[in-house]
Amino acid sequence: MLETPWSSSLGLKTPILNAPMGGVAGGRLAAAVSDAGGLGMIGAGSTGSVELIERESAIPRGAGLSFGIGLLGWAVNQEPSLLDAAIESRPVMISLGFADVGPWVARVHDAGILLATQVYDIEGARRAAGEGADVIVARGAEGGGHGLNEVATLPLLQALLDEVDAPVLAAGGIGSARGLAAVLAAGASGGWIGTAFLVCPESLTPEAARPRILLANETSTIYTRSVDVAMGYPWPSQFGERVLRNDFIECWTGEEEKLAGDDEARQAFSKAKRDGDFALAEIDAGQGVGLLKSARPAREIVRDFSDGAAGLLSRWTATTRT
Ligand SMILES: Cc1cc2nc3c(=O)[nH]c(=O)nc-3n(C[C@H](O)[C@H](O)[C@H](O)COP(=O)(O)O)c2cc1C
Repeated sequence: MLETPWSSSLGLKTPILNAPMGGVAGGRLAAAVSDAGGLGMIGAGSTGSVELIERESAIPRGAGLSFGIGLLGWAVNQEPSLLDAAIESRPVMISLGFADVGPWVARVHDAGILLATQVYDIEGARRAAGEGADVIVARGAEGGGHGLNEVATLPLLQALLDEVDAPVLAAGGIGSARGLAAVLAAGASGGWIGTAFLVCPESLTPEAARPRILLANETSTIYTRSVDVAMGYPWPSQFGERVLRNDFIECWTGEEEKLAGDDEARQAFSKAKRDGDFALAEIDAGQGVGLLKSARPAREIVRDFSDGAAGLLSRWTATTRT
């Protein structure tokens, strides 16, 4: 058993959350993680809809399991019904990222739901805590998917633990029991883990992407805006995403303005996405992807991370000389 004050306050058996990954973390993955004792999160992602939130939430809820939902703040600004649907789905926690949470805090709290948000620096953490976020996620630059490419997980986590009173979860690069033990030893209330769950049988990751993920190593990722520009997704321009390198993405990273005007390249990219051709299309993953060696059920990952971290953390006892 591994617990932190925060995880036991939520009734979790272990302080592990799967990150709300759009296109990867649906209801099946969330249910498996919650069933294993952590908190499963459903990711709505860039193309999330009310229908997706309702359908995927029904899976853990139908099994009597707690779960969370992650929404993109800018998408909620465009389509407020996404937040209505998330609240009506009765999660224990809603994560709103990539926007200030202030406008939504009261609604989420009135429904008795915790509000989490990912931050990338001290200023963002202070702002989120000041606006009333219940849970601050220290999201380092090595993490998969969207974020800022500024501060790595450990320096960010150390700074935020001294900075805010709210529980701080660590995200970015937790790819084994060792990583989980490290952030818990530092004082994190839990690990918010994405990449490690990418190839679980319960995840929505397309079959064709899985072998590429399993072959990747710690230097296989790149931070880019090229995907959002190619697809015309309305992501705020300060956010890029960490993905596996491929020829298209390496060619256009840093050349996004040119890409915006190159219809042929953009059409080729959207066709590759439609066809599931991951020689061109993106696969979001963090630097911990090199630690992912096989496709295992979420339950095994949660158990191994949790038991392994408990073992590592019990190996030393501090001795104080008086
Ligand atoms: C495939 C993938 C999709 C993601 N989609 C989302 C998302 O829809 N919403 C969100 O808040 N974060 C998303 N993220 C970021 C995660 O919440 C988290 O910050 C990240 O996975 C942590 O780093 P790690 O991948 O090294 O564990 C995504 C990450 C990945 C790998």
